[in-house]
Amino acid sequence: MSEKKNKVFFVMGVSGVGKSTIGNLLSKELGIPFFDGDDFHPKENILKMSKGEPLNDEDRFGWLATLNRLAKKQLKENSCVIVCSALKNNYREILSEGVESNTKWIHLIGSYEMISERMKLRSNHFMPTGLLKSQFDILENPTNAINVNISLTPMEIVEAIKKELKPKSEFGLFGLGVMGKSLSRNLASKNIKLSIFNRHVNGVEENVAINFKNEFEELATTKAFDNVEQFVNSLQQPRKIMLMVNAGKTTDIVIESLVPYLSDGDILIDGGNSNYNETKKRLDYLLSKNIHLIGTGVSGGEEGALKGPSIMPSGDKEVYKTVAPFLDAIAAKDANNLPCCTYVGKEGSGHFVKMVHNGIEYVEMQLLAEVVHILKLSGNNYDVISDILESWKSVADSYLLGITVRILRKKEGADWLVDKIMDKAGNKGTGNWTTIATAELGVPNTLIPTALFARYSSFYKEDRVELNKLYGEATTSTLNLTTDAILKAYQFARIINHFQGLNLISEASKKYEWELNLSEIARIWTNGCIIKSNLMVELVDVLKETSNLLGYEKFVQKIKELKPSTNKVVSQCVLNEIAIPCLSEAVQFFNGYTKANSPANIIQAQRDYFGAHTYQRIDDSSGKFYHTNWN
Ligand code: 6PG
Repeated sequence: MSEKKNKVFFVMGVSGVGKSTIGNLLSKELGIPFFDGDDFHPKENILKMSKGEPLNDEDRFGWLATLNRLAKKQLKENSCVIVCSALKNNYREILSEGVESNTKWIHLIGSYEMISERMKLRSNHFMPTGLLKSQFDILENPTNAINVNISLTPMEIVEAIKKELKPKSEFGLFGLGVMGKSLSRNLASKNIKLSIFNRHVNGVEENVAINFKNEFEELATTKAFDNVEQFVNSLQQPRKIMLMVNAGKTTDIVIESLVPYLSDGDILIDGGNSNYNETKKRLDYLLSKNIHLIGTGVSGGEEGALKGPSIMPSGDKEVYKTVAPFLDAIAAKDANNLPCCTYVGKEGSGHFVKMVHNGIEYVEMQLLAEVVHILKLSGNNYDVISDILESWKSVADSYLLGITVRILRKKEGADWLVDKIMDKAGNKGTGNWTTIATAELGVPNTLIPTALFARYSSFYKEDRVELNKLYGEATTSTLNLTTDAILKAYQFARIINHFQGLNLISEASKKYEWELNLSEIARIWTNGCIIKSNLMVELVDVLKETSNLLGYEKFVQKIKELKPSTNKVVSQCVLNEIAIPCLSEAVQFFNGYTKANSPANIIQAQRDYFGAHTYQRIDDSSGKFYHTNWN
């Protein structure tokens, strides 16, 4: 939009706010004609007002229609400023009739006390101050106006109006790392008016936003900044700013850098992998400053962010509604073409759910690594293994299976690239947090810690090399597994992984009263995210009926079918000293969790023996605690 082409700027407000002064100044600044609506009153109206009688609607309608004709005539030539009190909605409808899209309302606002004081000082005005009260009584505040407070000086008011007249962006994105860049392109390609920002670090990060904008056609209308204040001021209020920055301290520093420029009601969306406890603290802190925070899990990596990620937002539900259209627009779509984005729940529940997503991801990755390991030790090369995994897609397809097939086929000359990759697995912390959360909540999610510790063990490469000299390699002498048995073990462990992950979410939901909807969470994980799979699609309906996958008839049958092969795979690996921590933990967990009796009675007796911690008896249903003198 140009600042002054084909627009009628109606400066409105109750009598005495200074409409004529401001309208005049504004017209000069914009170089367009100025009309004072009062000059167009018929004689009868002026007479009535000067006698102290308020005008009724009848008196006003003809006058408003005259101003509407004036606006239409002026618009044919150029633009203009017209000042008119325009206090009611239907007055404004008459004024803008037929030229609605060319009309811009500027509402001057002041308190009754301030305006009556000012009016008392004015000698040449025909409206007595007594009529001011009636003006306030009939004023219906416009919802589509630029509101400017008259406590500023006239020149400041005009500057504020001019600033607001500049076209503003609907959405801001802060932080142009890999994910931020992809999300920016995704947002811009959905025709969202966007502002992007990246910090300026001399000699290190200079003009990042501008250079990035110039690289991609879809960013042609995007505004790029490396100045925070200008970035914030380029956004429509309430501002919606998505932060795509590193989790932890950086997020706090970024929030602090924004706060001084934000206004009441603005909304920050933290799209990083933030810790859910920190999100809750930040949410409370920002609320004390009248700023909202929507903690949002975003999954899908670089490609997902560009083409459609899975989005897990949380916080205040009403605030979420304001940002929902933007997040829905950029999210992946499920099989029914619904966005893979849903309001997860209160507080930091979105980041909690994303954290568990990552925990499930750790296990899925570890299981695939273990399966490849077994297949390799069974004498297959990576081309054969990738073909085997490819053939599994018909029953166990997933994004991670698909990328593993492609990874195994990647060659560097005649060599497989995977053979050249150092076997030390890194991590960014979400698996660690999931492990802490499951321990704190007292939920037996055993696979996520197992996958995490497998990564940690892998990191001790030098120790492993040394100890290998003492203890030798895996034997593989009695390793004789069919690929079908390995597939069954893989499917079995994946069911346990999803059972445990969803159980952790369900228990957290109860503890924190988040009222999370497991089926809906599975639905937004059916596309866009790293753990999307056929199993996840199946779970959407299952979770509408139960959150206990192990007790669900269809899964009971499936597990019974998979278990014998799984037992065989795990036991053969143990006998041949092949480390398969997640496959074997899946079996161990299942064996313990599905048995009525466990050896925990011995633990209770030991605790009572050395610490008098007491125990309950199976022959006393009252739940009473007993202590025995064991000596
Ligand atoms: C996703 C990924 C993403 C990221 C993880 C990896 O859902 O898009 O989970 O969030 O790749 O941070 O975590 P690690 O570095 O801990 O493996």
